[in-house]
Amino acid sequence: MSKNAYTPAPDRYTNTVGYQFCGKSGLKLPRISLGLWHNFGDVDDTDEALKMIHFAFDHGITHFDLANNYGTPYGSAEKNFGKIMKDHFSSYRDELIISTKAGHEMWPGPYGDGSSRKYLISSLHQSLHRMKLDYVDIFYSHRYDPTTPLEETMGALSDMVKQGKALYIGISKYPEDKAREAYAILRKNGTPCLINQDRYNIFTRQIEQDVLPLAEENGVGFIAFSPLAQGLLSDKYINGIPENSRAAHSYGFLQKNQITPEVLNKISKLNEIAAQRGQTLAQMALAWCLRTPDVNSVIVGASSVKQLQDNINAIQNTSFTDDELWRIGELG
Ligand SMILES: NC(=O)c1ccc[n+]([C@@H]2O[C@H](COP(=O)([O-])OP(=O)(O)OC[C@H]3O[C@@H](n4cnc5c(N)ncnc54)[C@H](OP(=O)(O)O)[C@@H]3O)[C@@H](O)[C@H]2O)c1
Repeated sequence: MSKNAYTPAPDRYTNTVGYQFCGKSGLKLPRISLGLWHNFGDVDDTDEALKMIHFAFDHGITHFDLANNYGTPYGSAEKNFGKIMKDHFSSYRDELIISTKAGHEMWPGPYGDGSSRKYLISSLHQSLHRMKLDYVDIFYSHRYDPTTPLEETMGALSDMVKQGKALYIGISKYPEDKAREAYAILRKNGTPCLINQDRYNIFTRQIEQDVLPLAEENGVGFIAFSPLAQGLLSDKYINGIPENSRAAHSYGFLQKNQITPEVLNKISKLNEIAAQRGQTLAQMALAWCLRTPDVNSVIVGASSVKQLQDNINAIQNTSFTDDELWRIGELG
């Protein structure tokens, strides 16, 4: 596809995924966002990756979630996304919310992992370079690091905002007590936390007890990652592991041994409930996350435009009866 062949759909903001304010901020997020952890690296189909970004934007998905280490090899998702940005989206930067993160292992030596000021700020500079951007909309601390003082990590994030290299700050996978401290430090620094990103899906609900109420109490938004449990919450594994699925890849994070007979039994029963609702299981799993306004957005992954289309249609029915919620809860 040539550089200038893309013209976004003129009706991209009507009849699309819908938007919600992120916590108590003035920033609206699409209820469905697209994550580039898998499927956008150098080992993946770059034509399909480009089509997915176009399709997402054409359907009102304005938020793309990345991290320094996304893609195989690390950094390749940001690099490939940067090329797409430059060639196809240079006129649309102000319509996009682009996030990145640092906190997991990225480069060798003592400064390429953890959450020191040195690592986070160097990593942001690398991410901006790979994505060919002047700033990111959200920069996340990707995980809590007990070996770095929280003041140092939060101070680095606050300085990114003060320097205009990030517009907002987020945290991801923080234990409740550390999230509470982080919110207080960021408030004191004059750069309040915008958003908390954590795992949330029918099989993983722990955050309902602590992370979610704490975010609400602090006016911080919440965005769910892996809402399909990496694809388990779809019908794809019911009859075996398809070639080209995440579980089939040696480099994917979903391991074959996670697909146990017990999990498959639950998936089959959930699939029946979804069918009774007139949804695919993937749609029901996303709708289930979005049933509460406390979840501002879900970050889906997708390996094809077809999956993304399926997922976007989840938005058509996000209401559940008490009976459905009880039956789903029993299978979680
Ligand atoms: N903060 C963190 O630490 C963290 C951690 C993990 C993820 N994330 C973010 O969350 C994003 C999403 O995570 P995830 O990729 O694990 O999300 P997910 O939505 O739970 O799983 C995505 C996978 O599910 C399958 N899938 C998607 N739609 C489908 C459909 N309609 N029917 C059948 N299968 C479907 C695809 O797998 P196949 O490839 O098998 O087709 C796809 O790659 C990431 O890209 C990243 O941005 C953040």
